[in-house]
Amino acid sequence: MIGLFDRLARPLLRALDPEDAHALSLQALRYAPLMRSVSDDRRLSVRAFGLNFPNPIGIAAGYDKGADVPDALLRLGFGFVEVGTITPRPQAGNPRPRLFRLDADGGVINRLGFNSQGADAVLRRLAARAEAGGIVGINVGANKDSADRVADYVALIERFASVASYVTVNISSPNTPGLRNLQQATALDDLLARVVDARERVAPNAGPTPVLLKIAPDLSLAELDDVVGIARSRRVDGMIVGNTTLSRPPSLRETKLAREAGGLSGSPLGALATRMLAETYVRVEGVFPLIGVGGIDSGAAALAKVRAGATLLQLYSALVFRGLGLVTDIKSALVRALERHRFDSLAELTGADAAAVTAEPWPQ
Ligand SMILES: Cc1cc2nc3c(=O)[nH]c(=O)nc-3n(C[C@H](O)[C@H](O)[C@H](O)COP(=O)(O)O)c2cc1C
Repeated sequence: MIGLFDRLARPLLRALDPEDAHALSLQALRYAPLMRSVSDDRRLSVRAFGLNFPNPIGIAAGYDKGADVPDALLRLGFGFVEVGTITPRPQAGNPRPRLFRLDADGGVINRLGFNSQGADAVLRRLAARAEAGGIVGINVGANKDSADRVADYVALIERFASVASYVTVNISSPNTPGLRNLQQATALDDLLARVVDARERVAPNAGPTPVLLKIAPDLSLAELDDVVGIARSRRVDGMIVGNTTLSRPPSLRETKLAREAGGLSGSPLGALATRMLAETYVRVEGVFPLIGVGGIDSGAAALAKVRAGATLLQLYSALVFRGLGLVTDIKSALVRALERHRFDSLAELTGADAAAVTAEPWPQ
């Protein structure tokens, strides 16, 4: 079914404007008669943040921003789905065009700017599927014109805690002016204090809701020291490393498109994101798990992320170029790696190369 979907849909989707293609793929998933995918190899199961993941591969935030198709994505074989980013009030985002495919590089540049249906619509949809099971996390952000951005995060956590498997605090989108300033030490400490406090306040009714922090791969190592220190002292449950990059590797072949403003993702982000993941892993010292994201485009890239420090993985851009079959390929590659080492779980590989990766020259 996935192979058929990929063969029929991808040539068509690749011929369309990227944003139209995205909308069409959501429509296709909404109406496709998908059967539950075959059960995952039990060695791929992961326990993290108090949750049981059937496999470690999630779809990253930004694909299903409005929680339109989380159950279809779970049926396709993702171990978890992160919906959002959701903002409290609906907002249109930046004017189109704002999404660009760098075909020769396997990359994507987006400056969507948190186009969001707003909390009410998304909450209704998630409440309607609450009994369906599966791990569905919610990525939250602030409205562009908000007078109090921290209050936006707090309000979203209070509202979504009861329907979210976990909540991701996204302060790393490059497309909302000033948002990344929340990664600065004083602002971050205040934000996380209030967010964790909100989570505790609603826990008696909503149950325990893990809070994850999603960071940019563009932080300096001194900034990363601060961010990890604060995340640890405020007791977040995990970090996601990371979001899109504002940098443009010199190796990019689509030089004209590379000049578009926005965040770069996909294959050209891989080396930087994996380096930042390893840098984060050595600073976290096992206090909480990490989700590795950025440029996962093959089984080998997924394995490298695990070895650099990821307990869980997420991907998005490579699906545009490789199709949904990539998820199955990655699972097979991970199982083969476990068999090679005679390991029973990926935890035994997590971080195995972290120190070595941090000793390499900084990726270009
Ligand atoms: C079109 C697009 C939209 C995105 N929107 C969001 C978003 O709303 N919130 C967020 O935290 N990350 C967003 N991301 C970033 C992804 O979640 C991910 O961190 C990044 O793309 C790196 O992974 P990848 O190389 O596998 O795509 C978006 C990425 C793309 C390509």
